[in-house]
Amino acid sequence: MTETSLLKKALRSVVAGQVKAAADPYRPGWHLAPPVGLLNDPNGFIQHNGRFHLFYQWNPLACAHGAKFWGHWSSADLLHWQHEPLALAPSEAYESHGCYSGSAVTDNGKLTLIYTGNVKYPDGSRTAFQCLARENADGEFDKTGPVFNLPEGYTGHVRDPKVWRHENHWYMVLGAQDLSLKGKVLLLRSDDLSAWDLLGEIAGSGLQGLGEFGYMWECPDLFRLADNDILICCPQGLAAESDRYLNTFQSGYFVGQLDYDNATLEHGEFTELDLGFEFYAPQTTQTDDGRRLLIGWMGIPDGDEFFQPTIQNGWLHTMTCPREVTLVAGKIMQKPARELQQLRRDEQAWQGIADDCPPLNITKAETEIVTEHAFSADLGGDMTLSFDGEWLHLTRKNRRTGLPEQRIWRGALHKLTVLSDASSLEIFINGGEAVMSSRYFPVLPAQLNLQGSHQITLHHWSLAECVIE
Ligand code: FRU
Repeated sequence: MTETSLLKKALRSVVAGQVKAAADPYRPGWHLAPPVGLLNDPNGFIQHNGRFHLFYQWNPLACAHGAKFWGHWSSADLLHWQHEPLALAPSEAYESHGCYSGSAVTDNGKLTLIYTGNVKYPDGSRTAFQCLARENADGEFDKTGPVFNLPEGYTGHVRDPKVWRHENHWYMVLGAQDLSLKGKVLLLRSDDLSAWDLLGEIAGSGLQGLGEFGYMWECPDLFRLADNDILICCPQGLAAESDRYLNTFQSGYFVGQLDYDNATLEHGEFTELDLGFEFYAPQTTQTDDGRRLLIGWMGIPDGDEFFQPTIQNGWLHTMTCPREVTLVAGKIMQKPARELQQLRRDEQAWQGIADDCPPLNITKAETEIVTEHAFSADLGGDMTLSFDGEWLHLTRKNRRTGLPEQRIWRGALHKLTVLSDASSLEIFINGGEAVMSSRYFPVLPAQLNLQGSHQITLHHWSLAECVIE
């Protein structure tokens, strides 16, 4: 299909569906969601000329995965986001099955996108090209075509370029699958973004004593934080253990030191970034004031996603809120970006025995629960959160099977911060030492009901809606 007819189809789909999608009571008030269709990974997250840009994997034509486009929002303040014209549509032979995930850099003052052109063949095989698109004077993106073809020794699963600048060179990490079906992260170098040299594998299944660690690693990200190099990646194919790797696919990080000259990353163990039911493919960027921000997809590519009720209204999935990440004692801490505090309205403070706490409206709210003791909380719908003094459980009914399922964290609890929107929860444990992100679909307005015989201290705010133009 030509680019124009594809763009027309996408536009028609938005015009036909956006009013119904916008009227859905589960539509978020301050999280980013697609106007219609399916959203997945955050792409091209950057602060460029002072303004934030966030692109996203988008199928505007259906609530299903398919040939992906890049949607685009921008924002001055991380609160009010504006829809920008669709950035990339799959129009060329080298991207015939989608403009897959990637990143953005500022090159010669211009916003420049690096993404994967994904090509599938009738026999089920595929290939991938890493491609470039540069912003033109009209704010559109001109594709300049592939800049790195499939390297030898890998299957067609080589994708998701994340690019950064270091000492007068550009560097790229790529997710990859080698011919023995092991997931890897590749490091590449370039002087001009157009010609790339493969330097080597810096991490992966079977490397650095990891043993079998997944058949494909998606969406790598590499950045410096507190004198360490952090590698984020999404290994696919890890077996679930009693208290970790409970989702279909994982997102996590390694802390290490990257040797750019020898293309090696000495790193420690893999730690999951989020313990909730829905979180995947996060991407980070550095802000002009030196913070590292992360946004993830509040979704997981598994069958359950197609049981979410928003599909009836023609849209599926949201992003997480933007989070500030720091490294404390070798572990990543995540906090909601400080800008979000501007959304707080009507603070309520309460102290007493949990059983005596009146119900709180948590549709678009922030609730801080300070306690070290056992309690449980009904969050509306079938979602419950409970702490028994040692284990924290987030429990719900699986949407596909109807059976109960849970996500867990273990430790000494002192504070929980629950950020809730019309259909999502992000639970920050102990100021961000762990996070649980999940979509949920309660009877609205959702109420939080606490139970327990111990004293708790509560702060509660309703959160103002952000205009997403
Ligand atoms: C992760 C992912 C990426 C790919 C994109 C396609 O969710 O599978 O590896 O680029 O989604 O939409």
